[in-house]
Order: sequence, then C-alpha cells, then structure tokens
Amino acid sequence: MEIVICKTKKEASRKAADMIAKLVKENPKCVLGLATGSTPVEMYDCLAKDVKAKKISFKNVKSWNLDEYYGLAPTHDQSYRYFMNENFFDKIDIKKSNTHVLNGLAKDWRKECAAYEAQIKKAGGIDLQVLGIGSDGHIAFNEPGSSLASRTRIVYLTPQTIKDNARFFKKASDVPVSALSMGVGTICEAKKVVLLAFGKNKADAVKGMVEGGMSQFCTASALQAHNDAWVFCDEEAASKLKLKKFYAWRSEIEMKG
Ligand code: GLP
Repeated sequence: MEIVICKTKKEASRKAADMIAKLVKENPKCVLGLATGSTPVEMYDCLAKDVKAKKISFKNVKSWNLDEYYGLAPTHDQSYRYFMNENFFDKIDIKKSNTHVLNGLAKDWRKECAAYEAQIKKAGGIDLQVLGIGSDGHIAFNEPGSSLASRTRIVYLTPQTIKDNARFFKKASDVPVSALSMGVGTICEAKKVVLLAFGKNKADAVKGMVEGGMSQFCTASALQAHNDAWVFCDEEAASKLKLKKFYAWRSEIEMKG
C-alpha cells in the first residue's frame, strides 16, 4: 500500500485525479469502479475540468459504483445514482448507458447482486477502483464484521455509519438501514485501487487500515494484501500514522516510477 500524504485535500484530490486521468488516456476503454460520499467530490471536479479542457474523454469508459442504499429510488436525492449524476456523470462526456449503479429498489437483491458481479466480469474486471473510507474503517458499505472475502450482497449499516451519514438526510431516522454493496473480495479484485481520506475524523480509520492488523473489523485493512493500492490523504487523516514520514518519502519515489 502506498500512502501519499499531501498538505491539503485540494492537492491530494488533484494527484488522485491525475492517476485516473493517466489511465483513461492510456486506456480510453477502461473500466472504473466509482465511489460516493463527500470525499471524492473534489477529485471528480478535477476530472470534469480535464474533460472540459479536452485533456481526457470518458466517451468509451465504463463504470460500476460500489453501493446503493436499499429502498431508495434512483431519483431520490440521497440515492447514490442521483449523487453520481449530479457530482460526476452530468459534468463529463460518459455515456449514461455505460454507468452502472446497483438498483436500490430491486425486489430480488440476490439476483441484482449476482447480475452486477457478472456484468463486471463480462467487462473484463475493474481496472481502477476509487474508494473513500468510513470513520470505522469500512469501504463501500462493508461494515465491521464483513468477511474480507465477501461479494456483492445486502448489508446492514452500523449506528456509527447511520450517524455519520445522517448529515445528508433531514433526520437520522430517514437514513436507510441497509444497502446493496460490493464485497471486500469484489473490491480487492480491482487491478488498481485509489482510496481517498481527508480530515481528522478519518485518522483512526487510516491508522487501522495502514498499520493495524488485517481484520474484518476494519475492512479497508484488506487492501494491505493488494499489490497496487494507493491512499491519497491530507495531513490530518495521516496524523496518527507511526511511519508517516517514511510513507511520504517512499511514495514520492514510487510516484515518479
Ligand atoms: C458511505 C459510503 C462509503 C464512503 C463513506 C464515507 O458509507 N458507502 O463509500 O466512503 O460513506 O463518506 P464521506 O466521504 O462522506 O466521509
């Protein structure tokens, strides 16, 4: 795992966007795994600027999102499909038909999740997966206790995640208690992973992910076994890392390579 520690969220977002832009340039037909949450928004803005400046094009890119609240229609303003349209897809030249988000209204969630996994496989797998991290160390909606081998399925949100995500809803009781989510095993199959983490609220999660033992109680720690995982964070999110100076020095060398 490479840890890129930046002075600001702005700098980290730009660097992460550069990594994605490089892939899109090299492989215009690449397959992206995308994430929601407030964390990647600035990075999506950087990519949208690149598209506007005609530096890159998403015309032939395909995407699969990590997760969706179970029970929310794609038109609901807190659904992740709505979020992706608003914050990214409507600002770039991607074909909507090439973007995929799990259907939160699927009656048969097993069928929905199995079909989603099959679609990803048929597309050749995910070339680059974007991730945020929950304050409890979760990736997608793989809450503490999720198997590190888990696949796309229905999941239940912890009280901590409901509390964290309540800021986007009118009241905490409006936050859905379940979601459809790619599994940790699904995520770890991506060829490259770019995880973003900002602010002191993520410092414990980042510490657990990078320097804790690999455990289903911090599902992001599964990335320790991935051979091309990159963490872009600001100084606050990196503040609890024991070896932060070493990571910063090493990642500078690795970024050049
Ligand atoms: C939700 C999403 C995660 C995201 C996390 C953090 O739980 N399912 O994918 O990483 O929120 O959100 P934020 O970036 O707003 O802190």
